[in-house]
Amino acid sequence: MPENNPTESDNSGRDAPGIMRRGGFYNRHSLPQHEAASYAEPLLRQAAEAVAAPPGGQPIVIADYGAAQGRNSLDPMRRAIGIIRRSVPDTVPISVVHTDIPADDFSALFTLIENSPDSYLREVANVFPFAAGRTFYKRIFPAASVSLGWSAIAVHWLSAAPAIIEGHVWSPRADPATLASFARRSARDWRDFLAHRAAELRPGARLVVIGGASDEAGDSAANGLMDMANAALRELVAAGCLGADEYRRMVIPTYNRTPAEFAAPFADGTASGLRLLHGQLDVLADPILARYQETGDLDAFAASCVGFFEAAFEPSLFSALAPGRSPDRRRSLETEFRDGLRARIAADPQAAGCNWRVYSMLIAKDA
Ligand SMILES: C[S@@+](CC[C@H](N)C(=O)[O-])C[C@H]1O[C@@H](n2cnc3c(N)ncnc32)[C@H](O)[C@@H]1O
Repeated sequence: MPENNPTESDNSGRDAPGIMRRGGFYNRHSLPQHEAASYAEPLLRQAAEAVAAPPGGQPIVIADYGAAQGRNSLDPMRRAIGIIRRSVPDTVPISVVHTDIPADDFSALFTLIENSPDSYLREVANVFPFAAGRTFYKRIFPAASVSLGWSAIAVHWLSAAPAIIEGHVWSPRADPATLASFARRSARDWRDFLAHRAAELRPGARLVVIGGASDEAGDSAANGLMDMANAALRELVAAGCLGADEYRRMVIPTYNRTPAEFAAPFADGTASGLRLLHGQLDVLADPILARYQETGDLDAFAASCVGFFEAAFEPSLFSALAPGRSPDRRRSLETEFRDGLRARIAADPQAAGCNWRVYSMLIAKDA
């Protein structure tokens, strides 16, 4: 697997590993991620309460690291601003900077922020939305300029997949040596993420991170759905529709850290002036499965699962298709893949359910 991941450099608007499905599709198909953010609400409240007005009339900067198309950022940003405004008058400007990789659909994000009735721009004065199209594995902000950081369900996306996963696309299904290479990349990325945030945060500022996680045994509870996706891809290879070389390149470049892996840089002193004030592992009740259990509507369940998968993972996988494929052939291949995935989900809905693990952290920069 190449080490030069388009996640780091691609600004062409094409699909890149790590990118969410464009055109607002992710916004419409990200219910589990939306639910995940609620687990960190008490931590966000504490973090916002710690924000003070910077000296010299400078704006308060809130950073939203890995924002995607913004749907799941509106609520936390609105809450944080509301809490800050209790103690900081609206003569002090607040800048909200949504960051993501260059290929992100920032257009969908700003359209939502302008038009949504849930936007944090409603009912507040002197609040300004911005974007930064830069990987969070690099420095994004000037030194000591961020008053509050937020990152939800984003840091499990690695800077690059360190290896091909033989016979699968999902790192927990890799052989031990390959899995170890993902773990090493993940450890390096997490340290890099923290080092850059340590430089950007104001002294005493807070950072809330909700990480896509696994339990201490390494289980992220998504193996059932990922096995179905992998089987659907292999079926396309067997039918001669998808090249064996294209399938081999297909990797979801994520690693869901255990709580110990998240905590390691704080414990061993490599977190550069950051302290982990609180860390908590939660098991997400699958909202898609819960709806199916209420309604019994299997078709709607399978469609929602496929939509969730398409929004979050399909662009990464299909970025591995041979560049010579026509757009029509790409589209029909994606449709065939979704049909195969949908059929498998409908055949075994319980196995497709994902009780994702999330690890919520409240992190402080030393004052
Ligand atoms: C599952 S989405 C989560 C988006 C949003 N925070 C939410 O809660 O719905 C993950 C986001 O992380 C972004 N991402 C992946 N790798 C990144 C990186 N290296 N730097 C910044 N963002 C990244 C993806 O582009 C995507 O928008």
